[in-house]
Amino acid sequence: MSGAGLKIVTIGGGSSYTPELIEGFIKRYEDLPVKELWLVDIEEGAGKLKIIGDLAKRMVKKAGVQLEIHLTLNREEALKGADFVTTQFRVGFLEARAKDERIPLKYGVIGQETNGPGGLFKALRTIPVILQIAEEMERLCPDAWLINFTNPAGIVTEAVLRYSHFKKVIGLCNIPIGMKMKIASFLGESPEDIQIDFAGLNHMVFGLNVYRKGENITKDLIEMKSGGEESGMSVKNIEDIPWEPEFLKGLGIFPCPYHRYYYQTSKMLEEEMKASKEKGVRAEVVKQIEEELFKEYQNVSLDVKPPQLEKRGGAYYSDAACSLIDSIYNNRGDVQTVNTKNNGAISSLPRDSAVEINCIITKDGPKPIAIGDLPVSVRGLVQQIKSFERLTAEAATTGDYQTALVAMTINPLVPSDTLAKVILDEMLEAHKEYLPQFHRKVN
Ligand code: G6P
Repeated sequence: MSGAGLKIVTIGGGSSYTPELIEGFIKRYEDLPVKELWLVDIEEGAGKLKIIGDLAKRMVKKAGVQLEIHLTLNREEALKGADFVTTQFRVGFLEARAKDERIPLKYGVIGQETNGPGGLFKALRTIPVILQIAEEMERLCPDAWLINFTNPAGIVTEAVLRYSHFKKVIGLCNIPIGMKMKIASFLGESPEDIQIDFAGLNHMVFGLNVYRKGENITKDLIEMKSGGEESGMSVKNIEDIPWEPEFLKGLGIFPCPYHRYYYQTSKMLEEEMKASKEKGVRAEVVKQIEEELFKEYQNVSLDVKPPQLEKRGGAYYSDAACSLIDSIYNNRGDVQTVNTKNNGAISSLPRDSAVEINCIITKDGPKPIAIGDLPVSVRGLVQQIKSFERLTAEAATTGDYQTALVAMTINPLVPSDTLAKVILDEMLEAHKEYLPQFHRKVN
């Protein structure tokens, strides 16, 4: 890393989440001297990139820090000599997400853009692009870290680990940090006094133990949270449907908000059907939030991150990213939850697969903290999802139809092979423009 200050590159810089990232770098400027922040986007995103870039410049000016903001559509130019690269792009924009969510719903199946049939397709569109970025990084900034928030973050990390030569990749999600902050606020504690042993996969992570100032309070906290009310621990994009109290007590560990898709499938489906009729699928709701946000971002007197950004499900993402970069740069040795190579930390999962787990963060990257086996009650589901993820990553790189069909069929949200095929075929056609690896074969 250059002594003259860091060069950070954000791919998908025109994202509405970027102001949070800028805020994070400003906040940490003394310990993390970012000299250049390059926001990169593609031609179709140039309008948004300009709006975000102008806001970023106003934020930096107001904060009085020496951080240069560069805007570019030329990814290779940006990547040259970078120290950290963050990725937060969406191939096919929100229109593609709406298809991921809507098409399965037509057949009574939850689409879910990260861990359902929608997630499968988001991965098929995203993986070829991330592998291309990894290849460019190998050439242009081989010592940099790739920090990915692009969903499905677990599958994307799996794909980079498995199918690229570039190994300095870390996947990041806001769910663990969000759960920690919500538990802290519920207990009236500051987040630093709460520790949670997280282990599992992205959007399939469990809080195995919760500690308050070092004391294990898991059992008491589960008791407190088993009142049959809303948990207060969900995210904006997932309805906080109460858990069955006896189930939660029996499980003895904390599920994440995304577990509702598996343990409350019929209620979640009902919710999504209702919501899609009343206000549209989540992509359509997000589109409206984005319109409001970008209107606000264009206000020349705005020079801080606006509170409306908290209506998005990904709140704290960028804060997690900035903390991670800070800990790598400063070799802090603190504990953060990230997606990285398992290396035996969770014995129930393959050694060479990506897992989401607490890690010690050093200048050499994350070192997973071993937890042994996952409890038997959740082990099978986690393994099933890992198989779904691996086949998805394989299908994305090979463009093999049968692999994609098997991935779709083994996803627990999909009820049969026949329906999997119907949904797969319709989605392959709907996303044709972004899936050359499949259509090359068909033609
Ligand atoms: C959650 C997930 C993120 C996801 C986000 C979606 O927080 O952890 O991975 O991107 O929600 O939020 P949105 O506002 O786009 O529906």
